[in-house]
Amino acid sequence: MSRVDPHSYTDIDQGRVRSIAIDWVVDFATRRLRGEVTLQLEGAKGGVLDLDTRDLEIESVKGPKGETLGWELGERESFMGQCLRIQLPEGSESLTIAYQTSQDASALQWLEPANTAGKVHPYLFSQCQPHHARSMLPLQDSASVRFSYQAKVEVPEALVAVMSAAPGESAKGDKGRKVYHFEMPQPIPGYLLALAVGNIANRDLGPRSRVYTEPEMLDAAAWEFESVDSMLQKAEALFGPYRWERYDFLVMPPAFPYGGMENPRLTSLTPSLLAGDRSLVNVLAHELAHSWTGNLITSASMNDFWLNEGFTVWAERRILEALEGEEAVSLSAAIGRADLEEAIEDFGKGSPLTRLKNDLSGVDPDEIYSVVPYEKGCLLVQLLERTVGREKWDSFMRKYMDRFEFTSITTEDFLAFLDEQLPGTAEKVKAKQWIYEPNVPANEPPFSSPRREELQRLGKNFTKGERPDPAKAKKWRIDEWLVWFAALPTKLSQEDCDWLESTFSFNESGNAEILNKWLAIAASSSYEPSYEKLRDFLGTFGRMKYLKPLYKAMYENPDTRALALSIYQQHKDLYHPIARAGLESILKLSK
Ligand code: BES
Ligand code: ZN
Repeated sequence: MSRVDPHSYTDIDQGRVRSIAIDWVVDFATRRLRGEVTLQLEGAKGGVLDLDTRDLEIESVKGPKGETLGWELGERESFMGQCLRIQLPEGSESLTIAYQTSQDASALQWLEPANTAGKVHPYLFSQCQPHHARSMLPLQDSASVRFSYQAKVEVPEALVAVMSAAPGESAKGDKGRKVYHFEMPQPIPGYLLALAVGNIANRDLGPRSRVYTEPEMLDAAAWEFESVDSMLQKAEALFGPYRWERYDFLVMPPAFPYGGMENPRLTSLTPSLLAGDRSLVNVLAHELAHSWTGNLITSASMNDFWLNEGFTVWAERRILEALEGEEAVSLSAAIGRADLEEAIEDFGKGSPLTRLKNDLSGVDPDEIYSVVPYEKGCLLVQLLERTVGREKWDSFMRKYMDRFEFTSITTEDFLAFLDEQLPGTAEKVKAKQWIYEPNVPANEPPFSSPRREELQRLGKNFTKGERPDPAKAKKWRIDEWLVWFAALPTKLSQEDCDWLESTFSFNESGNAEILNKWLAIAASSSYEPSYEKLRDFLGTFGRMKYLKPLYKAMYENPDTRALALSIYQQHKDLYHPIARAGLESILKLSK
């Protein structure tokens, strides 16, 4: 037996799923997907085949000639779900499973019309990373298994279906229904499968890119992300050819729990990025960069997650540098470094969760999600780049892409390739300490710039009376604000809060990043003039990056604890099941 992924029942000795044909009916009335999937296997020897499922109702399992196959569902093991064990006759290389999803499928959020922009039609979207695909379909739900897929999706006539795939024909179905076809030729791991159904319009933004979103947000989204094609060109110049043909993206309803998700051919983005000034497009750059780091080369399991996110933050900042220069990178690095410090403090200095490589057997990856693999991972990649020099590093990265494209690898595969291509470098930077030991090693690469230091000094000395010049600060870029906020104490006096609010009207800000930082201070400082804004903001977006720190700040302050609970009760219907689980643990509501 060889179970290679601590979060999956996949045993690659039993064979690997190579392609999947999906046939779904999307039923909004019962909040279920109904239908069947046909899995094509490679290397199947016959005997048992273990698949991942979570809350699926299996109806039948059939072999290639329609013959019924034996199957049983194992014990439910919390976030792992249930192992579906199938008896596969020798020589069988395909099987068809008829099933339906449950109303609580953890990958799916079914939205009432009230929680969409248009308020008329319902909406469904999926979020599969890290281990939720199994609640949509039975599969080998491990990042170490890649498959191509095709799908036929039947939806109510008034709605549009999109997937992380090339759209094919659509046709009228039975009784007021419409059928959409999709084809995904490039092999992907299960966590990159995505489906959304709603009143979705689209507009071309370039020869290879199109934005999808509800019609009410289309103008704003097209304007905000107008630069997608130039980003794509910059990214290709840096990392080599784009291998997925098209880069389309979907601006989600506000409930979407992340900033972005890199589903190939259909990145998902939170509408909280629609700031009206293009100040938050780095999230698009990040998801685009995953087309190389993450989607082309995928970490084999969540133990190696930093290979996805650390390299992608590095790549995101290289795109940023190409578009806006070195100072912008120095500010972005400062923000990341402050977030990393906070995450290390939250886990506790020395916690194994501050290592890059982990052993997460038995640990729910959703529960330990943090910026550590992102920012510590990025620091290591930047250190490697600086140590060998940019030219050599860039050529290493191109070779890395060519060598491992469309495969899933471990940290050790990366280290072996690094040793082969750039011998001695790993030792020189103490890569093993970075990877296998906690905290940030002393040889981290510096990113100072005069602007960065000035903003940090201003923030740090705020409580000593040092004030940013209001006229100048009103013209600050968003990253300047965030560097300043990161240096500011989290708890301020009423007078200081009053000064900030009367000078900068943060409560009226249309920028979610500013509101996030300001409202956290307001909550920790018991600043009542911001309580209504807290309630309002927490009912506007379901993005966990904002929900978690704000609820935490309110819960930890005895003055605002009741407010936290009351806001949560009011808005919890908006939140995604993954977000709700995280918040209920912060608010000590979980059973
Ligand atoms: N792949 C992640 C989102 C993710 C990670 C979802 C793990 C589920 C489990 C995505 O690329 C991401 O990192 N998004 C960030 C954007 C950012 C770092 C610019 C986010 O959502 O905030
Ligand atoms: Zn990412």
